[in-house]
Amino acid sequence: MSYLSLKNINKVYPGDVQAVFDFCLEADQGEFIVLVGPSGCGKSTVLRMIAGLEAISGGDMLLNEKRINDMAPSDRNIAMVFQDYALYGNMTVYHNIGFSLTIRGEKEARIHEKVMDVSKTVGLYDYLNRYPKALSGGQKQRVAMGRSIAKEAGILLMDEPLSNLDAKLRQQTRQELSALHHELSSTILYVTHDQIEAMTLASRIVVMNEGHIQQIGTPYEIYHTPANIFTASFIGSPGINLMKGAVEGDHFTGMNREEKPVLNFRIPRKFLKPLEDYRKGGLVMGLRPESIYTEKKESTGGEDYSFNTVVNTLELLGAEYNAGLDVGGFNLSCRISADQAIGKGQNVTASFDVNKVHFFDEKTGLRIKGQE
Ligand SMILES: Nc1ncnc2c1ncn2[C@@H]1O[C@H](COP(=O)(O)OP(=O)(O)OP(=O)(O)O)[C@@H](O)[C@H]1O
Ligand SMILES: [Mg+2]
Repeated sequence: MSYLSLKNINKVYPGDVQAVFDFCLEADQGEFIVLVGPSGCGKSTVLRMIAGLEAISGGDMLLNEKRINDMAPSDRNIAMVFQDYALYGNMTVYHNIGFSLTIRGEKEARIHEKVMDVSKTVGLYDYLNRYPKALSGGQKQRVAMGRSIAKEAGILLMDEPLSNLDAKLRQQTRQELSALHHELSSTILYVTHDQIEAMTLASRIVVMNEGHIQQIGTPYEIYHTPANIFTASFIGSPGINLMKGAVEGDHFTGMNREEKPVLNFRIPRKFLKPLEDYRKGGLVMGLRPESIYTEKKESTGGEDYSFNTVVNTLELLGAEYNAGLDVGGFNLSCRISADQAIGKGQNVTASFDVNKVHFFDEKTGLRIKGQE
């Protein structure tokens, strides 16, 4: 039996707005679960229902095998970090971190020990006597995290806790959070719309869209075996290339927006049978920008397909270019090493290993599995 069990949780807000549909999740103790999805997909709603700040319209929520649907927030053994920190402005960092222990009636010595310990973990040891108004955004964020860690709750809920930080501090805090997770035994549920945060922090990711779970899996599974077109496009930057096409003989023909053929390659053997029903079309191929290359490579043992193309757009990112390659009027995005001498308008030969291609059913959006 898992530690936190969400069974077919639904949420309907007043005015008949259904924000969450049949949400199911089983989380073990110590897992780091990240909920990711576009704005408005229901992430905060799920977190707030777990915290008890929002009533559950349907389904069952169990914590440690106990149904908590109607349990008061204070009885749930849960700590929550909000996006806007919600610190007590009239209390020092010390008292903010120790707050939950104070109201629990812990002894002064115990509170002191815990606050010292936690403040070192979140890098605020030298700031214990400051008030929130004399802290930077990043420091406030750490106080909020410290306060929730000190509570020693079984579940730590975090709603976009890094969103107010600049890029550098965000990355640093992300790494600290990851290290912290290894020290804590708490189960963490973390909400973000940042796919990099999701990929780097999570032991498992829950991808959501419009109130529905699209996929639950490890970062590796989500990236390499996306359940559908939505997940494939949401994770990965720049986004995966999607091209409609059809099967002809043992080849796949990819088409531009005018449905003219622009790519044609031999279908990997494992897909021959599963793709049999797509001779009239209805197929979408997915190819990640990082799977396309333009430099000459030693054979990787795969089955490479090469085609002629023109460089349409070129964005230098530092070590790499984001390039747009034109194939018969279709723009394929691609990542190219900045070491290459390449210019806009240049003709190049691009290649990819056909085994790296994903296929999706156009109607259902579901990924078609190969047969090994
Ligand atoms: N109190 C409310 N009353 C009615 N509708 C609400 C309420 N709170 C949220 N919603 C709606 O429920 C849906 C999900 O909202 P939610 O805040 O959970 O999204 P989110 O995934 O956290 O988005 P974001 O990334 O923007 O924070 C949205 O369509 C939102 O408008
Ligand atoms: Mg939200």
